[in-house]
Amino acid sequence: MKFPVSKPRPVHLNTWEGIYFDHKPEYIMQMATEAAEMGVERFIIDDGWFVGRDGERTALGDWFLDEKKYPDGLEPVIKHVNDAGMEFGLWVEPEMISKDSMLYRDHPDWVLGLQGYHQPSGRWQYVLDLQNPDCFAYLYERLDSLLTQYNIAYLKWDMNRELVQPGHEGKAAVNGQTKALYKLLDSLLAEHPEVEIESCSSGGGRIDFEILKRTHRFWASDCNDALERQTIQRGMSYFFPPEVMGAHIGPDEAHTTSRMHHINMRGMTALAGHMGVELDPVKESAEEKKAFAHYIALHKQYRDLLHSGRSFRLNASDGRQNIYGVMNDDEMVITVCQLAMPDYALPTPLRISCIDTDASYEVKLVEMPTTSFQLMKQRPQWLDKTLTLSGDNLKEIGLTLPILDPESALMVHVKKI
Ligand code: DGJ
Repeated sequence: MKFPVSKPRPVHLNTWEGIYFDHKPEYIMQMATEAAEMGVERFIIDDGWFVGRDGERTALGDWFLDEKKYPDGLEPVIKHVNDAGMEFGLWVEPEMISKDSMLYRDHPDWVLGLQGYHQPSGRWQYVLDLQNPDCFAYLYERLDSLLTQYNIAYLKWDMNRELVQPGHEGKAAVNGQTKALYKLLDSLLAEHPEVEIESCSSGGGRIDFEILKRTHRFWASDCNDALERQTIQRGMSYFFPPEVMGAHIGPDEAHTTSRMHHINMRGMTALAGHMGVELDPVKESAEEKKAFAHYIALHKQYRDLLHSGRSFRLNASDGRQNIYGVMNDDEMVITVCQLAMPDYALPTPLRISCIDTDASYEVKLVEMPTTSFQLMKQRPQWLDKTLTLSGDNLKEIGLTLPILDPESALMVHVKKI
């Protein structure tokens, strides 16, 4: 993985769950204005911008701007985004083709398949044969001209179905198809080295080290329910660092599960990765927007550490907690997320097993839920202080945590003195 320039990983706003296929440039610009006010640094227009793409079933392959939706072109929107101090990003799914598309009408033979075998659709779409030189050249030309024409800093590169019985000239094609994809990415990056790319694939579908040599971020899952994300992100963290793990604050009601979460749980869950926001800020209340800005600011405060340190997970005495953090030689941040009702009636200690036992530390609470109903709950006094403790103490005795409500989280900062 090569980050094009040495700069912090920018906070995203991605339009998908905010507007889906309903693209109106004026409205999108309003979203961008609000995003910038919240501290967002990169604004990405997701699926729905290209000609004929009014829903899931059509137009993949036709990588030309929909001039009905964008009669003045994309430039005014990009300018607006840039003027608001943000980079601009665009969604594509280059390996795919819809049967209802100009591309399919012109080149039905470009579909990846095996003669004599039925090729099933997935999300109403088919895969293109990237080993076909004409098809490859078409995709390269389309993507290259988008990147040349527009000031695009970032491509969200999606891939929303599996390869099924893929064949090229009668032979098995997975290997060749994959290498051709790498060649496509490599050729584009050679021509546009400053562009960053996200490997998306419905979230989670293509997260591996070879694609990471050519991409800069993964969308971990389409399920943006913060509770589910705790498990998903924990799994991902065994293999990949936080700086490549796309993690977005969604609206209070998760679109994929309808589960509701307070902003504390959503904000804290997104904060630990490559942070973003996945919603329509125009429709959110002033109070929610203030909270998004708060978590974005908190992320930026600890971003250098989060995106350059060593990530770790701690064993929790309470089996219903997920505890994880990032450290360097001098400091660490630790998030404690209460996934469900605690196992015990009494608060459990946070023991930091990876700490240097010979050093002394300053420990302070950075964030905790504000909503907890505190009657009959002990609020440990250290929460309001900066403590000085030995590493030995933090490892063996630990910090007494407050009892957390299910689906809420706190964060502490621990710094060597
Ligand atoms: C699947 C992705 O994971 C979503 O974020 C979004 O980009 C849609 N595809 C768009 O079709």
